[in-house]
Amino acid sequence: MSGAAAPAADELAPGVEVEVTIGPVAHGGHCVARYDGRVIFVRLAVPGERAIVRITQAKAGSFCRGEVIQVLQADPARIPAPCSHYGPGGCGGCDFQHVQPDRQRELKAEVVAEQLQRLAGIERTVVVEPLPGGDVGWRSRVRWALDAQGRVGPRATRSHRVVPINALRPCLIADPAITAATDTLDVPPGVHPAPPTGPRRRRRDSGRPPRRTPVALPEVVLAQAADGAVTATWPGRPGAAPIVTEHAAGRDFAVAADGFWQPHHAAADVLAAAVAAALAGVELAGRTGWDLYGGVGLFAQVLAEAIGPEGTVIGVESDERAADLAVANLADHPGFTGRCGEVEAVLPTLDPAVAAIVLDPPRSGAGPRVCASLAGLGPDVIVYVACDPAALARDTAALAAGGYGLDSLRAFDTFPQTHHVECVARFVPAAAD
Ligand SMILES: C[S@@+](CC[C@H](N)C(=O)[O-])C[C@H]1O[C@@H](n2cnc3c(N)ncnc32)[C@H](O)[C@@H]1O
Repeated sequence: MSGAAAPAADELAPGVEVEVTIGPVAHGGHCVARYDGRVIFVRLAVPGERAIVRITQAKAGSFCRGEVIQVLQADPARIPAPCSHYGPGGCGGCDFQHVQPDRQRELKAEVVAEQLQRLAGIERTVVVEPLPGGDVGWRSRVRWALDAQGRVGPRATRSHRVVPINALRPCLIADPAITAATDTLDVPPGVHPAPPTGPRRRRRDSGRPPRRTPVALPEVVLAQAADGAVTATWPGRPGAAPIVTEHAAGRDFAVAADGFWQPHHAAADVLAAAVAAALAGVELAGRTGWDLYGGVGLFAQVLAEAIGPEGTVIGVESDERAADLAVANLADHPGFTGRCGEVEAVLPTLDPAVAAIVLDPPRSGAGPRVCASLAGLGPDVIVYVACDPAALARDTAALAAGGYGLDSLRAFDTFPQTHHVECVARFVPAAAD
């Protein structure tokens, strides 16, 4: 910042620099700062710091976004980011590399607690548990963009620019075998997007250049299987994506290389154990359990163990290939039935006598209608695996309205260095809460 007068709040615009005190962390990994009454969501910050922030986005009459470009008073938990791609304008894949890992987990815990408090009216102290394996090299699956120059990597923060990953400048959170695979990746040239052509024309009416339509970059999925081998898939690759073998909960699972599997090496195992623990204490032998948003059947396997050969497990999954693989993966459980379809559509067709429901919806959550339906069925227990604390909090409120209380909550650092966190929440009828 120069010696010029500090800008007024309504003068905040991209490129403007302001000095602020950093406030609490918000959902999404940014911290909240206030400048002359205006809210700035600040990246690369730690609560309590004093810093110079460069504005990166400003909506008239609304909030701004910015990044710390200079720390004036550092928090003791601030550390030099270990990755060379991290920093102002850099890779958008990580949010917390500048924060000591234990403090990262405290920040995530604060976000989960705040969302529960604000959206569900629940006061709860949250602890985010680390996973085995450390805070780098944990990622066994990435979905990276491919640009016209053939570079592969995550996108830069709030941009379509590819951050090129290669052996010289690896992605530190990815398993080294994933970075190594980028060096030998043989994507046919036809898959690469066309480079932007021609100079930008000025808009005749306003004199401003037209907004450049962001190029939709093709995405390459690199998936590392349990044996360490990395498989690459990309749009237009002939045939269906290969099937790879993953291992969790004491058994193998067949998964499409471009299908859903927890990206952290240890996450599927840890979450399966947490779901098993959440089901414990409910007598399930010979009864019925549902695995909603079930993927290739990870939690169906946990339910099948708890329910035993005399009981019934129903898996519901909208992706046809994953639904088929769940049937194959659970073939040794005679009581398993896989249903392919959207949970919303399949629910009314199921026998409503269900003792345990496990649900693991995508980031948007299950939503109030599904939650109301589930609560209305009166299961003994509902176990909710959530990758988004806001969706979990909204659905917690919906389940509470249906008579189900939050009985226990565990949170796991399944995505170290990023703002993401996974929760396993146990709900029981409110009287038993
Ligand atoms: C977070 S993944 C969980 C998968 C699985 N439980 C696991 O841990 O491997 C969510 C899954 O829900 C599926 N899905 C998304 N929306 C759905 C819907 N409306 N109905 C059924 N499945 C859905 C996705 O295809 C994906 O497999």
